[in-house]
Amino acid sequence: MPITREEEEALNDHFLINSYVEGFATSQADTILFDQFRSTPNQDLHNLHRWYKHIDSFGSDRSKFPGPKRNSLILSVNKIKVTVMMNNKIEKDGPKQVEQQQLEQQLTEDIVDPWNVQASSNKGIDYDKLIDRFGSSRIDDALLERFEKLTGQNPHHFLRRGIFFSHRDMHRILNLVEAGKKFFLYTGRGPSSDSMHVGHLIPFIMTKWLQDVFDVPLIIQMTDDEKYLWKDLKLEHCNNLAYENAKDIIAVGFDMSKTFIFSDVDFIGGEFYKNVLKVQKHVTFNQVKGIFGFDESSNIGKIMFPAIQAVPSFSSSFPFIFGGKKDIPCLIPCAIDQDPYFRMTRDVAPRLGFQKPALIHSTFFPALQGASSKMSASDENSSIFLTDTANQIKKKVNKYAFSGGKDTVEEHREKGGDCEVDVSFMYLRFFMEDDGRLEEIRQQYSSGQMLTGELKAELIQILQKMIAEHQERRKSVTDEIVKQYMMPRALNFTIKK
Ligand code: TRP
Repeated sequence: MPITREEEEALNDHFLINSYVEGFATSQADTILFDQFRSTPNQDLHNLHRWYKHIDSFGSDRSKFPGPKRNSLILSVNKIKVTVMMNNKIEKDGPKQVEQQQLEQQLTEDIVDPWNVQASSNKGIDYDKLIDRFGSSRIDDALLERFEKLTGQNPHHFLRRGIFFSHRDMHRILNLVEAGKKFFLYTGRGPSSDSMHVGHLIPFIMTKWLQDVFDVPLIIQMTDDEKYLWKDLKLEHCNNLAYENAKDIIAVGFDMSKTFIFSDVDFIGGEFYKNVLKVQKHVTFNQVKGIFGFDESSNIGKIMFPAIQAVPSFSSSFPFIFGGKKDIPCLIPCAIDQDPYFRMTRDVAPRLGFQKPALIHSTFFPALQGASSKMSASDENSSIFLTDTANQIKKKVNKYAFSGGKDTVEEHREKGGDCEVDVSFMYLRFFMEDDGRLEEIRQQYSSGQMLTGELKAELIQILQKMIAEHQERRKSVTDEIVKQYMMPRALNFTIKK
């Protein structure tokens, strides 16, 4: 028997708080339930719909979900029993065709997790697909309109241009704002190199804008422990980098009276550690294995680390800021590769009596060589560093920025450039604030009126100015100032009842 509407509604309730049939890791229970559907469940049941699309995106990997293969499933939600028997299985396509489709899907799938970002095409990651796979929501016009209405400001160009493209629960945060209540911001950085590159600034630039328009406190976690566990680096070195990187972050312009930055290595203890323990007790090895791909040979520090990245989402971790309140909601701006940490956090939060953090996700910042990978600080020529001189910027852009222009001037004039693969144009979308000029460039470049050299010249000018200004501000960030940002203390904000 196919699933009835009543059963679908019960399942929808189940998926409101559970990512998967059995909680927050995939299992064979998802596979068998998935196979019961003739087609995608109706969109009005959006939790069920989201779960279905997410499971669908695994393709043939569904058969490899952990747990014993099963031929029946009984789920009870809100007193409604959903029974699934294997012999009801519906063949959606002939088996041959399914295999073929799944094979193709595997070869063309982008890889995105906290440690790997690799697109299958030079246009970059397919972000629409990621939204389906991760089960998040698109930042759409309706959300942007709400931002505008509530802040009285034009939304930041990162939001308008889809650079921050996906969210979880942003409407809940805006409802609070509408009711005159407060939330706090949380973001972080794994300090792994002396010199940060321009891509690293993206979440921080967004966060600063959010802090300014909503006038809310901000917490920044420096995960020196994470970098030590994952990279071949000395612990002392990772710890020092946390303080060096903090200078670049402070130089973005965060209001000291509303911002607390901490190094995991130096800060963890007290209420924060109590919350880490609570998370650790409620997440099993099987679950983190499913989410992060750990296995028996992963060091045990890695296995427990997700609890440490989860805990700053809970206001009770910072009693000196929130006076012990455990219900102040959190909004996390981050790149989409960090989402697995927060899927885990959102799953465990209600079981600990905490609120789920809301999120907004950014796309990646492309490497100079092209959008199939993100900019990486370990490849010097793939990045524009915050320490680069004007001349280095000019040379790197001219020499390495992948061009969507044509081989000869004649051909370019005739056929025009391709903005979709042109890295300099992509960078302009990140950093050129003037919408009008950006659109003009897009038209002139695609029509062949503008040449690659001219496009690059505009980008170079913008990057040179931006980085020179950053360097100026960073110079004034002394060790003493860093200490002040990193001192546990009350922040300037009041909680309205
Ligand atoms: N894991 C992140 C990194 O390697 C650092 C981080 C910690 C973070 N907490 C965060 C990033 C919250 C975004 C939001 O860079």
